[in-house]
Amino acid sequence: MKIDILSLFPDMFSGPMHESIVGKAIEDKLLDMKVTNFRDYASNKHNNVDDYPYGGGAGMLLQPQPIFDAMAAVEDENRQLPKGRVIILDPGGKPFNQKMAEDFANETHLTFICGHYEGYDERIKTLATDEVSLGDYVLTGGELAAMVMIDATVRLLPGVLGNEESAPGDSFSTGLLEYPQYSRPADFRGMQVPEVLLSGNHQLIAKWRRKQALKRTLQKRPDLLDKMEFDRKDHELLEEIKLESSDKNND
Ligand code: ADE
Repeated sequence: MKIDILSLFPDMFSGPMHESIVGKAIEDKLLDMKVTNFRDYASNKHNNVDDYPYGGGAGMLLQPQPIFDAMAAVEDENRQLPKGRVIILDPGGKPFNQKMAEDFANETHLTFICGHYEGYDERIKTLATDEVSLGDYVLTGGELAAMVMIDATVRLLPGVLGNEESAPGDSFSTGLLEYPQYSRPADFRGMQVPEVLLSGNHQLIAKWRRKQALKRTLQKRPDLLDKMEFDRKDHELLEEIKLESSDKNND
């Protein structure tokens, strides 16, 4: 996958994007990443990239010219690749989620446009295929948001995670939060690993895990359950969970 990033602060990417799994993906040539400082494309003599909003108001806006010209250079450099997605980072965009990371991971080329200052001249958004937000809060710029999205996307690329770290059972990929997991020792300072996990009975373990994932999601993120379709077995497990919790409340 090729990822281009347009940013006024390219150095922000050097640490986080060159460590751990994303760093290894670059080393292994599964990911090619390039950060372009769009200030280098500003055509005025002071290399300004922002200006006051028409109509007045606080703050400055990113102007279209440097970003349009930087995008043209990115497109030219990547003309041999299929036309990819252009993601503009904006707190007013669609909230990022696992499904978007999965969609991004199916592309060959992604370009992230990171804003700074008060916002974008609206015409810049015509360059984007997607306007995406990291969440309902305002960051100082799009860089951290882009890095989070890149991290979530790159770990889904084939070959990036080793077998032992595989992604399909992750929280959110299944639509549920992940079930609790334990490693050795079986007894740590009196805290025991659930008996069933030591049983060697894979059917029972799978059932226990599914029930725990449902229970966790019901307790911590019931909103996720609204979007899911359950089979008969899940309905039975949900019934059990509800009965157990009402028994507990009546104790
Ligand atoms: N830029 C500033 N805040 C942001 C957010 N929440 N998501 C994406 N880009 C942003």
